[in-house]
Amino acid sequence: MSSSTITIVKNANKKPKPQSKEIAFGRTFTDHMFVMDYEADKGWHEPRIVPYEPLTLDPAAMIFHYGQTVFEGMKAYRTEDDRILLFRPDQNIKRLNKSSERLSIPQVDEERVMEYLIELIRLEQDWVPDFEGTSLYIRPFIIGTEPSLAVAPSKTYKLMVILSPVGPYFKGGLKPVQINVEKQFTRAVKGGTGMAKTAGNYSSAYQAQAKAYEEGLADVLWLDGIEKRYIEEVGSMNIFFKIDGEVVTPALSGSILKGITRMSIIELLHKWDIPVTERKVSIDEIYQAYQDGKLEEVFGTGTAAVISPVGQLNWSGEKMDINNGEIGELSQKLYDTITGIQRGSVEDTENWTI
Ligand code: COI
Repeated sequence: MSSSTITIVKNANKKPKPQSKEIAFGRTFTDHMFVMDYEADKGWHEPRIVPYEPLTLDPAAMIFHYGQTVFEGMKAYRTEDDRILLFRPDQNIKRLNKSSERLSIPQVDEERVMEYLIELIRLEQDWVPDFEGTSLYIRPFIIGTEPSLAVAPSKTYKLMVILSPVGPYFKGGLKPVQINVEKQFTRAVKGGTGMAKTAGNYSSAYQAQAKAYEEGLADVLWLDGIEKRYIEEVGSMNIFFKIDGEVVTPALSGSILKGITRMSIIELLHKWDIPVTERKVSIDEIYQAYQDGKLEEVFGTGTAAVISPVGQLNWSGEKMDINNGEIGELSQKLYDTITGIQRGSVEDTENWTI
C-alpha cells in the first residue's frame, strides 16, 4: 500500500443526526474524521478516515505553545434533487497551502487532499442536512505536534478534517447588523499573519468583539494598524461598500484574508457590468459618502454567513445608518445568486461547484 492510499475505519456507534434546521454553529460533529501525519523523512503520510474521537497529544505539542496552526472553512450543500455540492473547494485547499507557507507548515498535495475530502464527505453524506438554509460545515486544519518548547517550526504535524452540520446563519433571513468601528485594537498588520487563516487572528479579536457586544453591537470594523484610517475587514469577514453606484472593497494588502466569497462577488459584479474596485478605502471617505447621501450599501462576506448586510456603522459616537437599516438590493441579489449556485437552484455558469 502506498503511503498516499487512504484507509477507512468505520464507526460502529453512529450518533443521531439533527432533526430540524435549528442547529447551533459548530457544536455537532459527524461520525468520522480525516487524519494524515507529517514527518520530515516521510512527508505527509497515512491518510485515513477514522471514527470521530478526542486526540491524545503531548502537553508539550507545539500547537499549544506558539500556535503553529492553520485552518479552512467550507460547506457542502444538499440540492433539491439530492446531489451534494461543494463550492470552489480547490480555492480553500490552495489557501490552506498559502496559510501554511506563512506559518512555516509543510505544503500538502492539493489534488490528493481534494480526493481525501471528497472521500470523507461521500462517507458522511447522510450528515449533509436538507432543512432550509442548512449545510455541512467542513473544517480542515493542521497543527504542529512535535513535543518541544523550542521556538522553531514543529518537525511533525497532523492534518485533520472534521465535519459539522450547521443551521442557517441568520434565523428568519438576512438581517442587517450594527457594527463598531474599532479604534483601539488591530486585527492584523502588513507583514503579519492577516492574510493567513490561522488561530491567532481570531482569538486576538475577542477583546474588541466583547467591547462591541457590551455596547449592544454585533461586531467590529477593523482599521489598519498604523494610521487607524484604512478599512480592512468586518468581524471575521471581508467587507464591501456600494457608494454612488460603484462597489469598492479594500485591496488585498497582506493583512486581509483572500476570501473565496469575496473573490466570487468580484467576479459576479464584473460579469454583471457593475463597477467594482479593489483599493484603499478610508473610514473618512465612508463618513463623507454617508454625509453626502451616497453610501448605499455595506456588507460583509464570508463562508459562514455568505453575505452579512451592515445596517449601521458606529464611529466614535457618529452613527451612520445605511439604507435605513434595511437590506440593499445588490446585497440581496448577490446573496440569492451565490446561495442559489451553492444549493443548485441557480445555474452554475462559472463552474464553481463540484
Ligand atoms: C467565515 O466563514 O466567515 C469565517 O471566517 C468565520 C469562521 C472562522 C467561523
